[in-house]
Amino acid sequence: MCVHECVVAAAAAAAHVKVTWQATAANQYRGSVGRTIDKGLWKMDVKGRVALVTGAASGIGKSCAVELLNEGAMVSICDINTVEGEKLAETLSTEYGKDRVIFCQCDVTDYSQFEGKDSCKSTKTTILNQNSKTNGVIRGTLLAQRYMGTDRGGQGGIVVNIGSNVSINPYASVPIYSATKAAIVNFTRAFGHQYHVDLTGVKVMALCPSATDSKLLEDVGKQLLWPRYVDAWLRDVASSVPQR
Ligand SMILES: NC(=O)c1ccc[n+]([C@@H]2O[C@H](COP(=O)([O-])OP(=O)(O)OC[C@H]3O[C@@H](n4cnc5c(N)ncnc54)[C@H](O)[C@@H]3O)[C@@H](O)[C@H]2O)c1
Repeated sequence: MCVHECVVAAAAAAAHVKVTWQATAANQYRGSVGRTIDKGLWKMDVKGRVALVTGAASGIGKSCAVELLNEGAMVSICDINTVEGEKLAETLSTEYGKDRVIFCQCDVTDYSQFEGKDSCKSTKTTILNQNSKTNGVIRGTLLAQRYMGTDRGGQGGIVVNIGSNVSINPYASVPIYSATKAAIVNFTRAFGHQYHVDLTGVKVMALCPSATDSKLLEDVGKQLLWPRYVDAWLRDVASSVPQR
């Protein structure tokens, strides 16, 4: 999957997905928010929907926000970084319209702060795209069940959690990151089960990008558990070219 496809799929917008993934997604979700656009391809229609994108001030989250806007959604840019978030919201408002973009400052690891945000509680929000912190992803998914769930008066919706290629193939250089990313996938599989979809109308899925050009990669040397792991890191990423 190329970077653009990856971001678009993560944004639940114009998702041109691999046939293997598509087959399941199309079978499960066609008729709700998706439509088949070609043999083997599936497109989600997000026009007019409200999306809350966490970690949206930069990197993958920012790209997801932009793709959602390109596809006609209204986006709440949620990030802990007020300076970058407000700047981005202002730029995107000029391009896409003031009524389609807002910034919402939030630390997603703080449950009450996350829940207190209007975009989180609004029953108009039907897409949650989560790009930051594993405990934030867990909290966000629980909040989506609570506020989007048809069993609790919501409209149902879609949660897209961002995992990583290390969710599936752990890197020796980042054991804790690998573990938390694997947790996101299993958590998503459990909440993505048809049992929950039937109960709440909330579809939970994960996307696992490989190395992507972002601030996260720039600072990776500083984030390693132990500086000497840098050799292992270089070995782990030797064969990967960061996506843009
Ligand atoms: N960049 C990669 O190579 C890569 C590869 C696979 C998966 N991922 C995953 O993609 C996601 C996004 O990463 P990225 O590369 O875009 O990183 P990034 O650093 O560019 O963006 C992360 C954003 O999250 C925000 N953030 C951090 N803590 C927060 C908090 N507590 N509450 C709210 N916002 C918070 C930051 O301010 C930033 O804007 C992460 O989950 C990362 O693990 C990244």
